[in-house]
Amino acid sequence: MAFRFGLLHNPKTPILAVAVHRTSSTRPSFWVPAGACACGGFAKAQAKFNGSRFATARRRLVIGVGGASFLSLFVGMAGEFGGKRFVASARQKGAVEEVLKNVDWPEQFPFKEEDFQRFDESSDSVFYDAPRFVTHIDDPAIAALTKYYSEVLPPSNTPGVSILDMCSSWVSHYPKGYKQDRIVGMGMNEEELKRNPILTEYIVQDLNVEPKLPFDDNSFDVITNVVSVDYLTKPLDVFKEMSRILKPGGLAIMSFSNRCFFTKAISIWTSTGDADHVMIVGSYFHYAGGFEPPQAVDISPNPGRSDPMYIVFSRKASIEA
Ligand SMILES: C[S@@+](CC[C@H](N)C(=O)[O-])C[C@H]1O[C@@H](n2cnc3c(N)ncnc32)[C@H](O)[C@@H]1O
Repeated sequence: MAFRFGLLHNPKTPILAVAVHRTSSTRPSFWVPAGACACGGFAKAQAKFNGSRFATARRRLVIGVGGASFLSLFVGMAGEFGGKRFVASARQKGAVEEVLKNVDWPEQFPFKEEDFQRFDESSDSVFYDAPRFVTHIDDPAIAALTKYYSEVLPPSNTPGVSILDMCSSWVSHYPKGYKQDRIVGMGMNEEELKRNPILTEYIVQDLNVEPKLPFDDNSFDVITNVVSVDYLTKPLDVFKEMSRILKPGGLAIMSFSNRCFFTKAISIWTSTGDADHVMIVGSYFHYAGGFEPPQAVDISPNPGRSDPMYIVFSRKASIEA
């Protein structure tokens, strides 16, 4: 349980009661590990970064867990870790937590439009038309996420608390019996959302068509997004909206594993590995603005034996920059 040590001693994650909510694990057959193929966006994103130091970077055809070159663009600049040494350690439990420390972010958002293209560019409403009453990560990963939520979410039934579960479905993985005055689910399939017992209301909205969130400024305490940040093709627009609707100090928790609907995930995601994904999500927070520096937590329950689980979180800055 060494990996939990860091989490429980993180002063930014208040420790509350622990309740574990388990559900059955069944995955759709096209749900595949990310980083299993090559997509054009990766090389182009690299190229965009290419100052003299990286001018000879080449496209990798297959990139496994812990995509090396992409990460080194950032960590090299941070000056804390050097190339291969970091890449080797990035595969070890807990190393992804280092990824967002001391990042010297480039001035401009480093990604281009093509980095957010997918193999399947047909309407998302077609893809999500039929409900999928499945879970997308295995039971130990779900349990780890639920336990994490039990440590960081406001206590159940706290007056005035509002939560948004973005990219929601029939399950949100919050602690069993968790309640607040307002828990809004946003997703693509109404049948799934209708069946989610934790939600007090839901909205069907394609964030890739309409990234504007239909909520007032400063109205949510927490935003969650489970294994879905990789489907956002306009992530900066969505993260700016998240910053707008969060109350000052409000918490945004993005969680993800190493699996995805491959044809619907953005190319920069499917062509890179876990540590890169942490950096990519961290960059969304950074470049959207209005957030504190993002942090990463590795809550993977049994490294190598069950699905990994990573959190990238940030709070809305109390005084907007
Ligand atoms: C892999 S599922 C994860 C669902 C849920 N968060 C969970 O943990 O089981 C991906 C979810 O992302 C949502 N999603 C995908 N594309 C979306 C889009 N363009 N706009 C809004 N939501 C989207 C879908 O509603 C779908 O439920």
